[in-house]
Amino acid sequence: MNPSSSQGHGAGPPERPPRRRRRARRRRRNTGTRAAPEQAQPPPVAAAHDAAYFNGYAQLGIHEEMIKDQVRTKTYRDAIMQHRSFIRGKVVLDVGCGTGILSMFCAYAGARRVYAVDASDIAIQAELVVEAISLSNIITVLHGRVEDVDINEKVDVIVSEWMGYILFYENMLKSVITARDRWLKPGGLILPSHATLYVAPVTHPDRYSERVGFWRNVYGIDMSALLNYAKQCAFEEPLVESIPSENVLAWPHVVKHVDCYTVIVQELESFTSNFYWKSMMRAPLNGFAFWFNVEFHKPEVAAAWRRLPAPPYASEGSSANRYNKRATSNKDSLLSTAPGDPPTHWQQTVIYLYDPIDLEEDQVIEGSVTLIQNRESRGFMSIELAYLCGGHSFRKFSVMN
Ligand SMILES: C[S@@+](CC[C@H](N)C(=O)[O-])C[C@H]1O[C@@H](n2cnc3c(N)ncnc32)[C@H](O)[C@@H]1O
Repeated sequence: MNPSSSQGHGAGPPERPPRRRRRARRRRRNTGTRAAPEQAQPPPVAAAHDAAYFNGYAQLGIHEEMIKDQVRTKTYRDAIMQHRSFIRGKVVLDVGCGTGILSMFCAYAGARRVYAVDASDIAIQAELVVEAISLSNIITVLHGRVEDVDINEKVDVIVSEWMGYILFYENMLKSVITARDRWLKPGGLILPSHATLYVAPVTHPDRYSERVGFWRNVYGIDMSALLNYAKQCAFEEPLVESIPSENVLAWPHVVKHVDCYTVIVQELESFTSNFYWKSMMRAPLNGFAFWFNVEFHKPEVAAAWRRLPAPPYASEGSSANRYNKRATSNKDSLLSTAPGDPPTHWQQTVIYLYDPIDLEEDQVIEGSVTLIQNRESRGFMSIELAYLCGGHSFRKFSVMN
């Protein structure tokens, strides 16, 4: 696929370099706070792009946003508590501990020791909290990249909140895999254990008219000369926003399913999935929405699934139905970011078409989606869509940054 080609028709604006930084934000200095306690390890030198990424996470606001996302934080707390008979008396590693919230849940679930690792300066604040609530005898905060820190024992549990927009943005699962391969004991528990990325075609004419149609009549002036530029500015990059479930035009397609007990880094660098949908209604096709869920299962459950010829979760390349999103969940926790489920700070990630396509009911949309991680920087991920619809072929190449 030619990365420089935009969406089909030949009408789409040309590719432009990425502009925005999401999630990781400007660093705020830690003025007025206490210095790192003596025992906190100095962070090792990170590559420049990593330094910018970790500086973003030094700001408390980003952690506040995540912690205030109750769907996220309560699901993690519930999952940890559901596994407390496994966690009690055991050693836990929290990969990317942030403020230490998940480490604290694990301590309260009875962990004997928790290694809370974060390369961002937020680790300094986490250590302050740990001390203040008298958990220093259980939680050891390590200020450094999980790839660089030393932990002199194997661990029974790895917990991590590694999911980015469109699941894989930030590429943090790679660090969880590194930690798993270095320290997790055989039979150890990983929370979350499974993750699934979905995509579905969506209609959103209001968004299109708000961002593009608007220029047709601006206080009575026809500014349609700006239309191509407006489309480019509005829809060149993926947008993070909430899509009402009634705007979803077909059952979601499973782009990627990850078993965190077995996934390897190479599997995540680049992958392609072929989709086939029939539109459930007559509507303009405005784009494709991505979302994910994660599940929290014991290693023996995951191992049993791997032995089944057809695992009970939605397998890659399959079309999910409205039930199988929860089919695996029984009593175990499930964190869903799907349209129609309680909203999370991840919302959905939407790749808009520059021009809508009018779909008839049952009209077929088929094609492929490819996700490519940037090896140099976790702040870039490419998404390539190639599809056929109504006898025409289309392509869109987007960069999430
Ligand atoms: C999404 S936040 C989650 C924070 C916290 N666990 C929570 O649930 O609120 C991810 C955190 O992981 C840290 N992080 C990402 N990659 C890391 C790595 N390779 N080593 C250490 N920390 C990492 C970031 O600095 C950030 O604080």
